[in-house]
Amino acid sequence: MLRMQAVTSLLIKSLIIFFLVLSQSPAIAKEGMWIPATLKDHEKEMKSMGLQIPIDQLYNASGTGLNNAIVLFGRGCTGEIISASGLILTNHHCGYGSAQGLSTAENDYFANGFWAPNMQGELPCKGLTVTFIRRMENVSQQILEGLKDTMRDSFRDTVISLRIAALEKEFRTKTGMDASIKPYFDGNQYWVAITETYRDIRLVGFPPNGIGAFGGDVENWIWPRHTGDFSIFRVYAGGDNRPADYAGSNKPYKAEEFFKINTSGYKEGDFTMVYGFPGTTREYISSYELSQVYNVTDPISIEARNRRLDIWTKHMGWTRSNFLKYTSKRAGVANGWKKWQGELLGLKANDVVGKKQAYERTFQQWADTCKAVPYAKDILPQMRTAAEIATPILTQEQYIKEGVLGIEIVQQGAAFDNVMACFRLGLSQDALRDTLTKLVTGMEGFYKNYDPKTDQDVFISLMVLYFNKCTSWIPDEFKDQYRAHDQDVNVWAADVFKRSMLTSMAPLKEFATNAKPGDSTKLQADPAWRLYNAIATIRKQKITPVLKDYISRMRYLDRLYTNAQMQEYKNKTFYPDANLTLRLTYGQVKGLDPEGPAPYSFQTNLKEVVALDDTASDIFRVPKKLKELYAAKDYGRWGVNGTMPVAFVASNHTSGGNSGSPVLNAKGELIGTNFDRAYEGTMSDYYFDPTRCRNISVDIRYTLFIIDKFGGAGWLIDEMNIVKGKKTVAAKAKK
Ligand code: ARG
Ligand code: ASP
Repeated sequence: MLRMQAVTSLLIKSLIIFFLVLSQSPAIAKEGMWIPATLKDHEKEMKSMGLQIPIDQLYNASGTGLNNAIVLFGRGCTGEIISASGLILTNHHCGYGSAQGLSTAENDYFANGFWAPNMQGELPCKGLTVTFIRRMENVSQQILEGLKDTMRDSFRDTVISLRIAALEKEFRTKTGMDASIKPYFDGNQYWVAITETYRDIRLVGFPPNGIGAFGGDVENWIWPRHTGDFSIFRVYAGGDNRPADYAGSNKPYKAEEFFKINTSGYKEGDFTMVYGFPGTTREYISSYELSQVYNVTDPISIEARNRRLDIWTKHMGWTRSNFLKYTSKRAGVANGWKKWQGELLGLKANDVVGKKQAYERTFQQWADTCKAVPYAKDILPQMRTAAEIATPILTQEQYIKEGVLGIEIVQQGAAFDNVMACFRLGLSQDALRDTLTKLVTGMEGFYKNYDPKTDQDVFISLMVLYFNKCTSWIPDEFKDQYRAHDQDVNVWAADVFKRSMLTSMAPLKEFATNAKPGDSTKLQADPAWRLYNAIATIRKQKITPVLKDYISRMRYLDRLYTNAQMQEYKNKTFYPDANLTLRLTYGQVKGLDPEGPAPYSFQTNLKEVVALDDTASDIFRVPKKLKELYAAKDYGRWGVNGTMPVAFVASNHTSGGNSGSPVLNAKGELIGTNFDRAYEGTMSDYYFDPTRCRNISVDIRYTLFIIDKFGGAGWLIDEMNIVKGKKTVAAKAKK
């Protein structure tokens, strides 16, 4: 007996020790995108995971932290400042639009890259801006004072927007900078960001697509990855170092804070942080809302895009001109298409809807007895009713958006709305022709990248989908046209593309130059416009009003639900969903072997890039010079024992908008630039699973090697502050 007892107590003791060890072992990843001003709450954990600098260096209330070395780049990316003279590092795909604006047939930067020989050679990018976040402050008290949680949004919103406008103005006057107040936690908190937006931004370095977009759509959202997805810009400022419109006399922005670059590398398990601007996540929504994503919007979008992309890809293979017309459109459509497939996979593998349902049962039990939050018990039942009403309508809307309006000629019908409006103005014939010609000229951009033959095939495929799926919802106009063509979709499509004016610029121009005041009847007879108009009408009458109500109802309920969850779990640290404001996320360098035992871990290298070389492929063709550098192992200061690292993965919680974000080591030094996530984990916008969610980054040594050895732009390296090994670094850089 005694012996038995001893064994049992030994067993219990070792179990206790086991769980103690388990609970103390460092978390392998950390879900959450934190507001920099709240990082103090995480200091202990961050330190235990490896952070070696005080939080104050990352962000502090006096506004001298490393947040000053990060910018919102353009409208939806992140960039980091890497020199005292305002050099910005971001992604290639973030600088793509600017490079396109500057690229010409003679100076094709996509084919050949661009490297400014000196500052005078840097190229102004029209319309490009970068925004610094100087400081943030919780202003919930001022914005929400006296407003009850359960107040209807219609009234609450009015009060809130008045208060926001007044307070923003106050901050602007006080700081001499911009101020923007945004809702967090679904409207349960409000924070102000004091910002400065610079408007004179110049292109400095841009690798050719064979590096910067290597692997194209095939490797997009995929680990292992081999893309050198970076480009370089510079911020210019007026004489006072403040934002100014473009001027030849502007000076490079003098940066007090910029990132030190650490080239000594990292190993698996090393602490990392990503500091940037994640766009949208929805981690706290109900199972009802997630079910709509899982069962309606994602699957329908994928199904419709399968068809569209198949046809586009086929036609792009036929002629070079089709390829050029559709390559950029295809990249955009395929980016979402692939991400959603990864998302469904991850949501399914984790049974996230089931997990949410279980969580909701616990919530309901708490809510039913909770006196402090009396409205909590009604939230989920109300969400359920609202979702039940909306789901069938949402289904129709999704087939319209991704199906019918995926047919470009139907979508282009929208352009006729303005043309029609001209006729209603009662203009003289000359004035009418003049206005119409201007309107039609505005459509040139669309037709430059449009091929009616391709679109005709898309028409056939997507109409079949729409007719099969939406039966009783199909507008009469569609059914009439279909019947009038012997119920043969091929005949119908051929006739629409033969008769419609919307197939190319020529008939539109001719119409505009010869138009007479009564000619709007000609537009009304256009078969493609009639299809567009029938869809616009059904949306206006039956779909949009329901969805508008649903969205505002859910906005209200989401706010209450998030608030109630925060009351229920008082000890849990919640993070606000992403809203394109500055956030810091932390995790660890961590491999991901998608198909079990694989040769890949947490890093790829140049040898693998060269092994993928395919001179017949547009996306896997390695530039000749890069192959030469590889063959000679000419890696300069940037190689590691004869190899050249290219990209790596870590377990930081990122989202769209984090592209271009600095990836930092334990000392806050730059080790890479974030650009994507792994397929298995793209569901992290709804659910973060540390075993499969990974952010993908370009290794800073690859970036420096390409700038230095491939681009021959060593003068840029001289501006940077490069540290190796263990030197400690202060956040404030030498001025
Ligand atoms: N998946 C990346 C993100 O969502 C886009 C990377 C751009 N590259 C591409 N092949 N489309 O933005
Ligand atoms: N590629 C994305 C971006 O452009 C990043 C991501 O979704 O992980 O922001």
